[in-house]
Amino acid sequence: MGLKIAIAKETSSNEKRVAVSPETVKKLADMGALIMVESGAGETASFTDDAYKASGAKISKGLEDLYKGADIVLKVQAPNEDELKRIPKGALLIGLLSPFSNAELVLALAKAGVDGFAMEMVPRISRAQSMDALSSQSNLAGYKSVLDATEYYPRAFPMMMTAAGTIPPAKVFVMGAGVAGLQAIATARRLGAVVSATDVRPAAKEQVESLGASFVAVENEEFKEAETSGGYAKEMSKDYQKQQAALVAAHIAKQDIVITTALIPGRPAPKLISEAMVQSMKPGSVIVDLAVETGGNCAGSKAGKVVQKDGVTIIGHENVPSRLAADASALYAKNLLNLLKLIIDAENAKLAINWDDEIIKGMALTKDGAVIHPAFTDKKVPENKKIPEKKAEEKKTPAPKKKAPAKKSSPKKEND
Ligand code: NAI
Repeated sequence: MGLKIAIAKETSSNEKRVAVSPETVKKLADMGALIMVESGAGETASFTDDAYKASGAKISKGLEDLYKGADIVLKVQAPNEDELKRIPKGALLIGLLSPFSNAELVLALAKAGVDGFAMEMVPRISRAQSMDALSSQSNLAGYKSVLDATEYYPRAFPMMMTAAGTIPPAKVFVMGAGVAGLQAIATARRLGAVVSATDVRPAAKEQVESLGASFVAVENEEFKEAETSGGYAKEMSKDYQKQQAALVAAHIAKQDIVITTALIPGRPAPKLISEAMVQSMKPGSVIVDLAVETGGNCAGSKAGKVVQKDGVTIIGHENVPSRLAADASALYAKNLLNLLKLIIDAENAKLAINWDDEIIKGMALTKDGAVIHPAFTDKKVPENKKIPEKKAEEKKTPAPKKKAPAKKSSPKKEND
């Protein structure tokens, strides 16, 4: 038998995504692989067993059948203990494994002899753009954050001139103009809102403005140097934070909707909205905190909850990409397919991993029963311990060294 790829139904609560789509199943089958899918694995993402079968997959007869002899296991989230026990020794596991918030898993993978690849650690280099799951998922989260705001906002977004009077356009402020933030800007603009945005990276200014939004930031010397070589934000000085907070406070008081997406790799999310700022907003205003899972950008936001404070709704939905499960799965499945193309020798239908490849080096956690990723071998991570204070890192590659040229899939380009 050739290469067997197994895809189980995700077990994490509120995870509706799945790691393959009928489209990627077909492409993988064309590469000579046997694709086995657990019955119902795609149900919550609107992919039926029949659609998978029609694309060339087999539906497993139970979990034993699914995992037996599997060479590759594709997942969205990290496997639980029971799943890990079922993955055959020597198999390759690929998923959003969140190693920085789950150091235990890295050790467990090594112990089980499972080679683990973390999708969130794909380096941000041009060659790996089509495998960049952080981007594909953040993009959708940015879009959905605006729709989530519309659900709770008791007014309309576009300006409407009617016989009964004029409705002014909603004012939307986006904090953090990375992948999710830029898509939120584009979405709010499409709905007719007047949009502004802020970021600590100077490169964001042009991107924000090219989407038709205005840029709000203290543009001093520190700001001009606030981007790492990897293209990520740095933690800003106390003084900068104070000046920026004052500017932002005055701005927020005049906004109807605020969407926060600000993250700093390896650190808790920066606190950008204080209680006083929430209080300054008009009743009926809405804040969406997309950073809620890494500590939150907004005082009072609660992971998995929608809370009311001083007449303001603060939305803290978790796993926002999963709220668009069909598209999020389709894009994530494509990210996986593009990675698999790199590591499968289609002519001979077998794995051919170049362990020296920069992409593999960036994401490979374990190999042949050992932890191989430097972030986990040099004692930075305490053994057998979860490190919640580093949760922000979960979403990030450890220090991507190069900032690649503007990506094809950037929300900015998509919406031009
Ligand atoms: P992210 O998810 O780490 O953070 C979101 C945004 O929050 C970033 O733009 C960051 O600068 C901003 N932020 C952090 N602290 C802030 C503060 N105190 N106030 C305001 N904003 C703050 O970032 P994401 O979305 O992953 O993208 C980071 C950069 O990487 C972007 O320039 C993006 O275009 C670039 N990128 C490059 C790719 C490639 O070259 N292959 C792929 C994807 C993104």
